Amino acid sequence: MTGLESDAFVFFGATGDLAHKKIFPALYAMVHRSGLNIPIIGMARAGWTLDKLRARARDSIEHSGDFDAGCFEKLAAQLRYVDGDYTDPATFTKLKQALGPATRPIHYLAIPPSMFASVVQGLAKSGSADHARVIVEKPFGRDLATAQSLDRTLHEVFSEPAIFRIDHYLGKEAVQNLLYFRFANTFLEPIWNRHYVKDVQITMAEEFGVQGRGAFYEEVGAIRDVVQNHLLQVTALLAMDPPTGHEPAAMQAEKLRLFRAMRPLDPKEVVRGQFKGYRDEPGVAKDSQIETFAALRLHIDTWRWADVPFYIRAGKCLPISATEVTVTLKRPPLPIFDPNEAMPRNYFRLRLSPEVVISEGALVKRNGDQMHGEPVELVARHRTESEKSPYERLLGDAIRGDTSLFTQDDCVEAAWRVVDPALTAGQPVLEYEPGTWGPRASTEVVNDGDTWHDPVTEKSSPC
Ligand code: BG6
Repeated sequence: MTGLESDAFVFFGATGDLAHKKIFPALYAMVHRSGLNIPIIGMARAGWTLDKLRARARDSIEHSGDFDAGCFEKLAAQLRYVDGDYTDPATFTKLKQALGPATRPIHYLAIPPSMFASVVQGLAKSGSADHARVIVEKPFGRDLATAQSLDRTLHEVFSEPAIFRIDHYLGKEAVQNLLYFRFANTFLEPIWNRHYVKDVQITMAEEFGVQGRGAFYEEVGAIRDVVQNHLLQVTALLAMDPPTGHEPAAMQAEKLRLFRAMRPLDPKEVVRGQFKGYRDEPGVAKDSQIETFAALRLHIDTWRWADVPFYIRAGKCLPISATEVTVTLKRPPLPIFDPNEAMPRNYFRLRLSPEVVISEGALVKRNGDQMHGEPVELVARHRTESEKSPYERLLGDAIRGDTSLFTQDDCVEAAWRVVDPALTAGQPVLEYEPGTWGPRASTEVVNDGDTWHDPVTEKSSPC
């Protein structure tokens, strides 16, 4: 859906961590780059003043990089602040006043889902939800049942096209590029299936731990934090069929078909790990059973992907920070050259962060008299420096009413249906040393004698 632009931006959780890390820098960039000029109303229950919120915004933007005083002044002039309890109708009366003549606000719920119901009801009763849109942060629920309940809560007040569920991975340049690469090229489609693809691996590795978010992490764990959303979304973009048409609905329809074809995880094909030292983090239980690492095998029951395993792995305190996809192809039917050597298979490597890299692994003849080969990588690399942050892109899209990069209720619910069995099975969490690739048992998730492809530090571009 696109439509009229929102004429006020309200964000709940204005004094929180997400606002400091992501929302203020994104708003600043929108003012800077696209001339955003609407009232921006921060909401919180913190006893703050507008001046304090402006100081916080300034600190956030100074920390995030370039700071232009003139541009910051423009943002600061658009800022408003409403303080109050989200269960108190008076808070929403103050919000309604702060909205002034705005008739199409967008409300961003950067708050825990447990507060959604009272906020949504408060918005409705004060008239602030009329002709409004709402953006909701992940995690969208804890499992299928809670996600369905959140959807019911939102739908009591907002229609589905007015709901923008954020998954910031979908706003990443590299993830957009993945989609483009798949559907803008002719050469890929004939081989992008079970006849040529042996397996697909996705690794999201983070070198750091929970960075002071222990209390949050205790509520989620790696599967809820990044697998159910970011990594299954990436899987869907890798595996879906081409959309028929240009409308966002066409893309959503294909994604939904794919999500519904994902087989619910078999707990026997899931390994959970926890880095040594996690239980000493502030906010973490001494006997915590929360996973900071997960490795799993996913099956997609379509004609395109039957019998092609999708291996997914994510973890904190791993040797490197990088997210990478490897699509490995089957070998040629007969080995004509190098019959006694196990040459590497062809593959596509799609690095999603921190660099954007698309490369293809191939074999060429080594120099000399013999017909022996050596592996090479054909690389297409894109610079990342001047790109929009995912939050700038996604918040801008939401303000314009463009739903293309947001997740619909049925896709979110289908993704929960996939991971739910792994959340309830009570598989043990296996300890691993920080700086390693997780518990040893994770190697058994990859079958056929293969191994995980560990992302390495990217060499500088040859171009
Ligand atoms: C967030 C998770 O959604 O994504 C974090 O809550 C994770 O735990 C982060 O670190 C990774 O995203 P990015 O874009 O910083 O790589």
